Amino acid sequence: MSVFPTDFLWGGAIAANQAEGAHLAGGKGLTTVDMIPYGENRMPVKLGLREQVSLDADEYYPSHDAIDFYHHYKDDIALLAEMGFKVFRTSIAWARIFPKGDELEPNAEGIAFYQSMFEECKKHGIEPLVTLCHFDVPMHLVNEYGSWRNRKMIGFFEHYARTCFEAFDGLVKYWLTFNEINILLHSPFSGAGLLFKEGENKEQVKYQAAHHELVASALVTKIAHEVNPENQVGCMLAGGNFYPYSCKPEDVMMALQKDRENLFFIDVQARGYYPSYAQRVFREKGICLDIHEEDAEILKHTVDFISFSYYASRCASADMNNGNTSEANVVKSIKNPHLAASDWGWVIDPLGLRITMNTLYDRYQKPLFIVENGLGAKDVIEADGDINDDYRIDYLRAHIEVMGEAIEDGIPLMGYTPWGCIDLVAASTGEMSKRYGFIHVDRDDKGKGTLTRTRKKSFYWYKKVIASNGGDLA
Ligand code: BG6
Repeated sequence: MSVFPTDFLWGGAIAANQAEGAHLAGGKGLTTVDMIPYGENRMPVKLGLREQVSLDADEYYPSHDAIDFYHHYKDDIALLAEMGFKVFRTSIAWARIFPKGDELEPNAEGIAFYQSMFEECKKHGIEPLVTLCHFDVPMHLVNEYGSWRNRKMIGFFEHYARTCFEAFDGLVKYWLTFNEINILLHSPFSGAGLLFKEGENKEQVKYQAAHHELVASALVTKIAHEVNPENQVGCMLAGGNFYPYSCKPEDVMMALQKDRENLFFIDVQARGYYPSYAQRVFREKGICLDIHEEDAEILKHTVDFISFSYYASRCASADMNNGNTSEANVVKSIKNPHLAASDWGWVIDPLGLRITMNTLYDRYQKPLFIVENGLGAKDVIEADGDINDDYRIDYLRAHIEVMGEAIEDGIPLMGYTPWGCIDLVAASTGEMSKRYGFIHVDRDDKGKGTLTRTRKKSFYWYKKVIASNGGDLA
């Protein structure tokens, strides 16, 4: 028997920058992610430690071609429909709509592309869930304005968002503003297009950028509601609670602080004002924010639902530099001795999802939407062409089971979109071989392959899960 509501939105998620490729097609401009190479320079560029503002002929850039979803979307969406998807999360590449980011008139080809993609979803009875900014700021905005460190970005984003709400009105009603907004603290270039000047207080720059994003997010939430009262807007947190490494009060305090570092963003987006603990954090980090008088009023436009990604829980001890750490999804964590980890060191903790969901619902009392979850793993193609990804099925089954428990805990859960429903480029490493999909894509880490799509064992399993509304997980 299923505990999931009858209108539960089962589906999957991708992002433009990791799937579309065609990085200059249809008038698209270059974005931050187009500057992030594969290989040893990847992390330094992502983290803003190595400045890369133009392309280097010696580097390979995985986003440039990705899985060429740009030219395959009709067939790919048909495959998702075959699994019974009710919802499909993707993002709009800002630079397809405004190639530079500061134009007044949008790029008609970009609008036409997404219109066609969303119509394709509708044709199959799939509701699009659209992220406005998923790790891809137009490079012109980085070079000309310093990206989100500059208040002018609020206006550019507002214009972009309004253009999307109006152009796709009637096609899209579920929107997310910034993907994993808290990640800008950990990966400032990929998260928010930030580069630093010699000697400046990075915390100041990051939190000022965060303020601009939070104001922009609230402003466009208001606009979305004005354009169409049916629109529903969510924030998007890179989720996963911090556990205290031990019951030592110092460890517990550190876990609380680390959780606040992430939840700070959602506190503002869901409650409409800065949390009380923020002043002390700012003071201790030497941060003095430029906040305009009108901002408090704008921030009051809160989100309709809380969306988040969940891959792993995290762990904190009083000494976060004790050498026993890992950085799954760029967030530093103490290694948890009680949990197994994926080949990339991301701990596997289904119960942690229930803990995270309860924390978020206790704190905000708004419906939740799990918009990313999954296991990045290497797949093997058997001699007969089959891909028997039982490890992925096990991971997803365990997480769906606890979603059921969380629903029984009384939490309204709107939907579930496991990450990378079709294989795509990994955001952290740029690998294709770190696969999440129900659908395999023939492409390797260096961009070689036929791009052929193949259904994995998990494809048939997930199809059954959806058909039974989560009642049959066998
Ligand atoms: C989230 C991002 O951080 O995790 C996605 O929103 C990303 O863009 C996903 O792909 C999984 O991370 P990775 O590095 O395995 O692709």
